[in-house]
Amino acid sequence: EINFFFPKQQTLAVIKPDALEEHRESILKEIRDRGFSVSQLKETVLSRQMAEEFYKQHREKPFFSQLVEFMCRGPCLILILTKENAVEEWRAMMGPSDPDHAKATSPNSIRARFASDILHNSVHGSSNEQHAEENIRFIFGDISSDAELTSDGDTER
Ligand code: TYD
Repeated sequence: EINFFFPKQQTLAVIKPDALEEHRESILKEIRDRGFSVSQLKETVLSRQMAEEFYKQHREKPFFSQLVEFMCRGPCLILILTKENAVEEWRAMMGPSDPDHAKATSPNSIRARFASDILHNSVHGSSNEQHAEENIRFIFGDISSDAELTSDGDTER
């Protein structure tokens, strides 16, 4: 299928430690059912340094140290999701940061169903295209996500 109006987009999704143990399969199934392809996948325990860097825009916030601690407490499953409009669609699937708010406004969202509070909120999704690129490069390195495969198999920018 060729869609000229909504080119494929990539976003970074993280199933956080609170959700990975209990809800891994349900969340992965839902991701696939909604038509995302999983382009890369990595299960890892983030180091403190990685978590601090990942959430560096929140460095000054009162919840920062708790957030870093929580993100490092067990394995995360980190995925690159590809789909038209992936950034926005994955954010919509996640629901708002606070599960109480999520339950009120988007009861089918992942956070409404699986999150226990605003800190332990089960998933991450890049908030815009630029963050998506930064998040992906930070976790997976330069995987030349914007390279196109030519017919003879060479990559071309
Ligand atoms: P934020 O980027 O605002 O939310 P989102 O993950 O929905 O993009 O915040 C990053 C994470 O910080 C959030 O997922 C959970 C944590 N957090 C708190 O623990 N307390 C808070 O009051 C906020 C706003 C966020």
